[in-house]
Amino acid sequence: MENSVLNRRNFIKSSMAIAIVGALPQLILAKQSSTEFDYELIIAPADVNIVPGGSTPALSFNGGYPSPVIRAKQHQPVRIRVINQLKEPTTIHWHGLRIPIDMDGVPFLSQMPIMPGDTFDYEFTPPDAGTFWYHPHMNSIEQLGKGLVGALIVEEAEKPDFDADLVLCMKNWHIKDDGSFTALTSPQNAFRMGTPGRIMTINGEMHPTYDVPAGGAIRIRFLNVDNTLVYDVNSTDPDAQIIAIDGNPIEQPITLENHLMAPGMRLDLGVMSSKEVGKSITFKHKNKPLVTLRSVASTATFHSLPALPLNPIPEPDLNNAETIKFAFEWNANITPIHKDGKVNYNFWTMNRRSWEGMSKGNIPAPLAQLERGKTYLFELSNLTQYHHPIHIHGHTFTVLKSNKKAITPFHSDTVLLGKNETVIAALVADNPGRWMYHCHIIEHLKTGFMGYVEVS
Ligand code: C2O
Ligand code: CU
Repeated sequence: MENSVLNRRNFIKSSMAIAIVGALPQLILAKQSSTEFDYELIIAPADVNIVPGGSTPALSFNGGYPSPVIRAKQHQPVRIRVINQLKEPTTIHWHGLRIPIDMDGVPFLSQMPIMPGDTFDYEFTPPDAGTFWYHPHMNSIEQLGKGLVGALIVEEAEKPDFDADLVLCMKNWHIKDDGSFTALTSPQNAFRMGTPGRIMTINGEMHPTYDVPAGGAIRIRFLNVDNTLVYDVNSTDPDAQIIAIDGNPIEQPITLENHLMAPGMRLDLGVMSSKEVGKSITFKHKNKPLVTLRSVASTATFHSLPALPLNPIPEPDLNNAETIKFAFEWNANITPIHKDGKVNYNFWTMNRRSWEGMSKGNIPAPLAQLERGKTYLFELSNLTQYHHPIHIHGHTFTVLKSNKKAITPFHSDTVLLGKNETVIAALVADNPGRWMYHCHIIEHLKTGFMGYVEVS
């Protein structure tokens, strides 16, 4: 499936020496042989096949789904030219990357929208290695819901020795058996947990099986690119190891029992595939199979699970930190607001404010003003009966504690708050700019749960 492979704009020699097995041909890029990472993404409608025999009128990057996997390298510049062939404006956000504000892809706050027919070049140098993703930050329910979601993998400066590396994008499509779309949102659902899609997919396929080398060290990167669903991931392999959470390696791998992955979150696992050919490992959401890995014969030289280098996330200065409280609440008022001829709903508030959107000349005040270089403790209180993955742009939290469970501190850009849970997350405000700060359940962010903080 060549159409999913990114076009390099500049000619490079491509040595096709990729991993080992023939799994995921549609996701594998020509291995980069130059230091320059230079890509092109064309955003346009495209008919894609998610259900057998049915065609889905999706929105696509480069004409298909799954979207191309963008591969970059830690500390090396990457350029991505985005060409908008939609009939509406868009921007692209690089979820989890700590990059300068003018490349963050938020309309009006960091750049002007990319108008239909226009092009925008995103250029940045990723400071952290790991599993990240990309998606528009405009008309999100529809643009993300119809397929504009893709993985962005930042390879370590020195690549760890895995025998295979699988990128697995999880998405439940809102489609019928003939492939046509059902409603992506409804007020009753936006007011609760959001509108779930019907067809659960990994890389656009229902319960795919991928071949992996028998006895190999396998890296599995799960990305929840869904608008709504919280996946509860477990495995038939009792030895599957969590090696990174939300892009960031953890100091000590943890054995996977089950792991909640809300929209926006990522999970990297290390597993040793069976030495016995034909044996398989299945990963599930609750008791529904998501994906199966099957051991196949290979001529590889085998490794054990390598350790991942930690990312250079700034160390919070806890002795001099300032606490800021954020209350995430339900809005008592459920009748729609009529604005600009449109019907808007505000179901959710952050510190008693519902996001009402913005335009060129109308940007609301920040939720908090942060002093550059200083450490803040965000006290994130979820006062609702639903869970909310709270995402910050341009920074990575150090998650310290919760009133509901024991936490070994870890780094994350998308912190899942359970119902009535309060989490303390430290943030070193080292990146100047106006940074979006929102729930990643897309219907929640569109009905109030969005704001921004300003670092200056
Ligand atoms: Cu995935 Cu505002 O982001
Ligand atoms: Cu939410």
